[in-house]
Parts: sequence; C-alpha cells; structure tokens
Amino acid sequence: MSGKKIILTGDRPTGRLHIGHYVGSLRRRVELQNSGEFDHIYVMIADAQALTDNADNPDKVRQNIAEVALDYLAAGLDPEKTTIFVQSHVKELTELTFYYMNLVTVQRLQRNPTVKAEMKMRGFSSEEGADGNGKAGTPVGFFCYPISQAADITAFKATTVPVGEDQEPMIEQTREIVRKFNSTYAPVLVEPEVLLPDNAACMRLPGTDGKAKMSKSLGNCIYLSDSAEDLREKVRGMYTDPTHLQVSDPGHVEGNTVFTYLDAFCRPEHFERFGDCFKGKKVSFDFKTLDQVKEQYRKGGLGDVMLKNFLSAILEDTIGPIRAKREELAKDIPAVMEILRKGSEEAEKAAARTLAEVKAAMKINYFE
Ligand code: TRP
Repeated sequence: MSGKKIILTGDRPTGRLHIGHYVGSLRRRVELQNSGEFDHIYVMIADAQALTDNADNPDKVRQNIAEVALDYLAAGLDPEKTTIFVQSHVKELTELTFYYMNLVTVQRLQRNPTVKAEMKMRGFSSEEGADGNGKAGTPVGFFCYPISQAADITAFKATTVPVGEDQEPMIEQTREIVRKFNSTYAPVLVEPEVLLPDNAACMRLPGTDGKAKMSKSLGNCIYLSDSAEDLREKVRGMYTDPTHLQVSDPGHVEGNTVFTYLDAFCRPEHFERFGDCFKGKKVSFDFKTLDQVKEQYRKGGLGDVMLKNFLSAILEDTIGPIRAKREELAKDIPAVMEILRKGSEEAEKAAARTLAEVKAAMKINYFE
C-alpha cells in the first residue's frame, strides 16, 4: 500500500443542496481540501446512483448535475485542488460493481439499515415485484447500490470518506467487500474510514419544521441558493418550543430547532457582529456565548423573535457569499460543465488503474 491519504465522497443529484448538506458534509470537505493534508480529493456527483430510484425521471437527474456542481463550486470546492466528476462518466465504476456483486450476499444487503429505511420510505416492497399485485417491488439496481458505492470508494483507493451518519452502513459494507476481495484474490483494495460530522447538530440537521431530516419532499429545506428574503421567511416560520407561549415563560432548548441550527452554525465571533439582535426596546441582553443564550431561554424572558433574528443574521452571513458566488458561476454553465468533463476524464484514469489491478488479481487479464 502506498500510504497515501485520499478522499472520495459525493451526493446524488436529485435536488439543489441545502444547509443540511452544508453542515453535514460540504463545509468539512472544503476545510479538508484547504488543509493540504490529502494527496487527492475526489468529489462525485452520483447520477448513476440517483437513477437507481429515479429511473423514470431522467430529466430530474440531468437538471441537477449543474445545480449540484454550482453548489459545490460556490461553497468553495476548487477544481484546481479537488477532482469533481460525474459517476456515469467513469464506466470503470460499473465494471467494478459487477465483480463486487459476487462478494456480497442478498441477505447481507437486506440487513443494511440504510437500504432498509430507504425501501420503506420509497414504498419498495420486499415481498413482491411489479407483477400486478399493486406493490412497487424493489429495483435490483437500487438494492445493489451499496455495492456500487463500494466501487466508487475503492476505485480511487480512498482512505477517508466524509459523509453524514446515514452513510455509515455503506462504508461498513465497503470495508467488508474490501476484506473479502483482498483475502480471496490479492491485497489490491484499501479499507476506507468514515469521517462523520463532529457535532450532533451537524450530524442530522432537522428541517425547519423540526422533522427528523431536511428533505425536499417535505418542503422543510433551506437551500444554499435561497434568496435573502426566502431565508428570512423560512427562519421566521421555524418550529421552536410549543410550550414557550409568552416571552416570560421558561423555554426548552433541547428539540428546539432554532437552537439546533445555532449549534450547527453559531461561532463566538457572531456575538460581536450580530449581538444587536438581542437589543430590544423593553429588554436587552449582552450575550457572549451560545451557552448564555440557552441559559436565558431556559429561565424565560428571551423571545423567539430575537433568537430568530440572530439565527437569520448568522445564516445570511454564511449563505450570502455562497449565493452570490453561485449566481456569478451560473452565468456560464458551459464552463461548469467543462469542469465536470475534465474532472470525469481525470477520475476515469485513476479508476482504470485500479480496475486493471482488480482484473489481474481476479485472473481475468487473459490478453496481457
Ligand atoms: N449515497 C450518497 C448519498 O446518498 C452518495 C454517494 C454515492 C456516495 N457514492 C458515494 C457518498 C461514495 C460517499 C462515497 O448522497
């Protein structure tokens, strides 16, 4: 093994990226990119994976290739430092997937907790197929996507996979495939480590309605591309603490979505810059830390309006520059697509090297 440090991660292009993606993974990727600690960073737009449960909606996937690329670039991924590519344009990934399928059982896939949860969410029945009994059945491609994800990761010999916690079972399954491959054939593949967000709020940012997760279908997302007005409106309508009816009432911090967002976004400097949000006509506070804000909220006397104004200011400070850069980049979509084309070409070279080693290890390199 070469001892190189390599990152691979990615997203399905099924919609624009939201602030849950940002704190869950994207912000970290940009930091890792700029840390200079990695020999190579690959970020993939997982269109082939998106098609595993959107086979009937190719337009959605196609439209979101550029949208996700814009989100990446606007958030600070730099194509000079990070290879940004499109999954379907690295055909070696499909080939690897097919060979890895022999190393995984149907039963093991059925136990994958993320696959299970997604099957339930999408109404894919495990009992029946699309044979007229009204049940949707599970597309084989969807069922096998953890194997394809193992191909994505191992093709680049990634050592580090920064993702949200829902992806942890995929990395575990990848590790099993690597061990199985290496012990069956030859030690070609690298076992990756998962890199999870470092605080609970970032791990699973709830939607603005307080629901478990931000999701386009629930309409509870704040997008990186949202306008300043939309952002303010969404924060204004956010779920807080239903028992905090009057400002003077004691409030709850746990399970209060505004506080969860503050845990994910608030930094000490924000008190210097946006402390005025806590200066009112009747009451004023001079907070220096988020803990002080929480303490006051628990005691009572701190209203949701002040709190939301503070959160709005912080979010605008974070998203504003991303939005502005995104609008600039969106003026030249062909240039964005060219970045993806070049990235895909580069990614393909790396994947082809691994595939050649894999085929040699499997003794199917007959003509060499
Ligand atoms: N499954 C990931 C998602 O739902 C996308 C993805 C595909 C991915 N292949 C990957 C993430 C490899 C990390 C590594 O967004």
